[in-house]
Amino acid sequence: MEKEIHYSTKINDAFFRQVIDYVGAGVVITDPSLPDNPIIYTNKAFEKVTGYTTKEIIGQNCRFLQGEKTSRQEVARVRKAIEEEQSVIVELLNYRRDGKPFWNELSMYPIYVPSEDKLYFVGVQQDISNRKNQEIRADDYKQEASLLSTPFVPISEKVCILPLVGNINAERWEEIYQRISVHVHDHDEETFIMDLQGVQELNEDVHKGILRLHQLLQLMGARLIVTGIEPRTAKASVKLADFRKKQISFYANVQQALEAMRASQ
Ligand SMILES: Cc1cc2nc3c(=O)[nH]c(=O)nc-3n(C[C@H](O)[C@H](O)[C@H](O)COP(=O)(O)O)c2cc1C
Repeated sequence: MEKEIHYSTKINDAFFRQVIDYVGAGVVITDPSLPDNPIIYTNKAFEKVTGYTTKEIIGQNCRFLQGEKTSRQEVARVRKAIEEEQSVIVELLNYRRDGKPFWNELSMYPIYVPSEDKLYFVGVQQDISNRKNQEIRADDYKQEASLLSTPFVPISEKVCILPLVGNINAERWEEIYQRISVHVHDHDEETFIMDLQGVQELNEDVHKGILRLHQLLQLMGARLIVTGIEPRTAKASVKLADFRKKQISFYANVQQALEAMRASQ
């Protein structure tokens, strides 16, 4: 049997205000029928998150929380949602009263109140600085790791060695193409020696990657030499015949490549 629900008529505005004050997240209500959609209510947590008192900010538009590094794109998403009377969730860099930045996950909803025949907007603000800062640090680390995994070792003005280690998947190839293009463009390098001695698996991806890189460097007026593949070719997917056909030079190791270059000069 379905349970009968009794709605208490004693629940009033004051009760709801108290409940909302206990909510861990900031809550603001704005009135879009007034000029510039001002704040008409904030809870205690909003004061705590932002450092502003309700008195100071009532009657203002919430944009006072934004600053120099707030993403204009994300703000535009909020603006559009307000125009279209839609809900939206965005992550905004906002600034506290003391100027300190914090990451605000803003969930904003339009709420229609039938008894007043009126629309309000409710914003719920969560301080997600810990999570965001961890994400940013993880991204920085990933970028640094990618730079370390694709080092460029210039040995003269015109020759650069690229010693690769580990596995090279499609994503890493993209990074390699991009970094080499920028490097050739900036340094006017003529020869790239790609040393694959430390690459664990000479698979089909590596084979295709080398052919594509050769093509790319040719277009830029530079040359690719591959080293560190010969002893393993019996088991690997790298087909040296293909390299010969495309006239990609390959050697057992970097030293042999350098000697061959010197001899041909
Ligand atoms: C209910 C509500 C809550 C909002 N809360 C925030 C907020 O916490 N931080 C913020 O940067 N913007 C917030 N905004 C967005 C700004 O008030 C404003 O709508 C936004 O900056 C886009 O308008 P503008 O381009 O005129 O500045 C909120 C908007 C509404 C309607």
